[in-house]
Amino acid sequence: MPDLILVTGATGNTGTAVVAGLRSRGSHVVRPASRRPDPADPDALVFDWADATTFAAALRGATAMYLVAPAGEADPVSTVGPFLELAADQGVRRVVLLSSSAIERGEPGLGEIHDVIAGKFSEATVLRPSWFMQNFVGDHPVAHSIRESREIVTATGVGRLGFIDADDIAATAVEALLAPEPVGEELLLTGPESLSYADAAAILSEVLGHHIRHVDVSPAERASQFTAAGLSEEFAGVLAALDERISAGEQDFVTTTVRDVTGRPPTSLRDFLHQVHLRR
Ligand SMILES: NC(=O)c1ccc[n+]([C@@H]2O[C@H](COP(=O)([O-])OP(=O)(O)OC[C@H]3O[C@@H](n4cnc5c(N)ncnc54)[C@H](OP(=O)(O)O)[C@@H]3O)[C@@H](O)[C@H]2O)c1
Repeated sequence: MPDLILVTGATGNTGTAVVAGLRSRGSHVVRPASRRPDPADPDALVFDWADATTFAAALRGATAMYLVAPAGEADPVSTVGPFLELAADQGVRRVVLLSSSAIERGEPGLGEIHDVIAGKFSEATVLRPSWFMQNFVGDHPVAHSIRESREIVTATGVGRLGFIDADDIAATAVEALLAPEPVGEELLLTGPESLSYADAAAILSEVLGHHIRHVDVSPAERASQFTAAGLSEEFAGVLAALDERISAGEQDFVTTTVRDVTGRPPTSLRDFLHQVHLRR
């Protein structure tokens, strides 16, 4: 079992739950790392992908890590590559990378990081989750649109996907970090059911008690909305193309991986939304 585990993206959707999950299992030190670490956590430290001088301290003594790559970068390997080089030199053996069900190994961006970790670390697992249920709540643009306009706008048509609770991703990551032997090279992770955004809107309507509608637009319209919201044209194009792939049915599947790895079933969207609603 590793004795010091670095958790990058430690204050995010998955990282927060990975830190809590690892600590609940005890017997090793957890080092949460992000730009704005929790000041109340004595083990948390400042780590910034944009500042390579923060890399060495984050890696010192670590034998395993949960890796959340910088988001929205066209070429994340140029940033993450030198960090992984240092990690391998400093004795990190096990890496669990958060990627996406939409990204195949070797694809530009995160897919290239799959390649690097598979080549560099003897124990590498890539988590490839579907879209997060957390996008419907909190600070995500989809959540803002639900609150402000009571609508979800996508270019996904009737395409379906296996929305997943980030806590289920984190629970899988904890097992992947702690298991005596690696749990697999690539884990495709989904929730328990494949839903269209119209299905999701119907469940949201039921839980919130007011009507939420799904508005389907063209990929070009979706890309312009993303650029109007401040995203670069390149990233807006990438996100609109992902919607198009969902529309074509590419993400219409569910897997049993969360249950297989953690021993418990993944949370449904209805249960997730009820839990969030009850917490408010
Ligand atoms: N949302 C989805 O539907 C979905 C689906 C599949 C895959 N994914 C993947 O999930 C990943 C996001 O994971 P998440 O939702 O767990 O995280 P998140 O909630 O988006 O939070 C990002 C984390 O990274 C940290 N961070 C941001 N910029 C940083 C920087 N420059 N240097 C160091 N740390 C930084 C943040 O903390 P600080 O602000 O304190 O730095 C935070 O802890 C992305 O790679 C995305 O592609 C998302």
